[in-house]
Amino acid sequence: VFDSSKITVIYVLGGPGAGKGTQCAYLVEDFGFCHLSAGDLLRAEQNREGSQYGELIRTYIREGTIVPMHVTIKLLENAMTEALKEKEGKNIEGWADGKGRFLIDGFPRKMDQAIEFDRTVCLSSKVLFFSTTEEVMLGRLLERGKTSGREDDNIESIKKRFRTYENDTMPVIQYYASQDKVAQIDSTVTIEEVHNAARETVQKLFSEKQ
Ligand code: AP5
Repeated sequence: VFDSSKITVIYVLGGPGAGKGTQCAYLVEDFGFCHLSAGDLLRAEQNREGSQYGELIRTYIREGTIVPMHVTIKLLENAMTEALKEKEGKNIEGWADGKGRFLIDGFPRKMDQAIEFDRTVCLSSKVLFFSTTEEVMLGRLLERGKTSGREDDNIESIKKRFRTYENDTMPVIQYYASQDKVAQIDSTVTIEEVHNAARETVQKLFSEKQ
C-alpha cells in the first residue's frame, strides 16, 4: 500500500503510563512528525456512530487486552493514507525531505502486528522505548484517572494492562532489540528530562539515516 522509500516510521513503545503520548506531543513539535496513536485511533473508532467495531473495541480496552490485529492495522493504514494525502505537494516543515515522518505510538503491541506491519508497510522502522517501573506507571495512571474519563484508568484495568504489556508487548521490544532497532529512554525522570533524551535520540536516528 505504501512506498517504504517515502516514509520514515518510528514506533513508540513502553508500558501503560510510561509517558508515550506526552513525549510524542513534544517530538511532533521538534521534528514535524505525524503522530498516530493506536489507542486514540481505537477510542475514536469505538465512539464513531455506526462503527461495526465499537462494542468489540470497548470490550478489549476495558479488559486491557489487545484489540484484534485486523481492526488496528486497518485504522492505522487509513490514518497514514489520509495524512500522506493531506501533506502531498505541500512543503511542510519536517516533511520537506519528501518523506512522511510517522511516530506510531502504542504499536506494534503484539508479535503478529509487528510481523504483519513490517511485511506490508515498513521494514526499516526504529523503536523508541520509554521504560520505567510499574510503581511509577501506576501512580501516574491513577492520578490521570481522576480527570481522564478513560474507562481503563482504574486499578483493575490497569493491572490487566500491565500483564498484557509484559506478556504481549515485551516480546515485541525484545524482537526489535535483537535487530538493534531499539533506543531505550528512562522515563522515570521529569517530563523535561525525558524530552531532552528523546529529542537527542531521534536527532541521532535521523543523522544515522543520512
Ligand atoms: P493506549 O491508549 O495506548 O494506552 P497505554 O499504552 O496504556 O498508554 P497510556 O496512553 O495510558 O499512557 P502513555 O504511555 O501514553 O502515558 P501518558 O503520556 O498519557 O492503549 C489503550 C488500550 O487500547 C490498550 O490497553 C488496548 O486495549 C488498546 N490498544 C492500544 N494499542 C493497541 C494496538 N496496537 N493493538 C491492539 N489494541 C491496542 O502519561 C500518563 C500520565 O503520566 C499523564 O497524566 C502524564 O501527564 C503523566 N506523565 C507522563 N510523563 C511523566 C513524567 N516524566 N513525570 C511525571 N508525570 C508524567
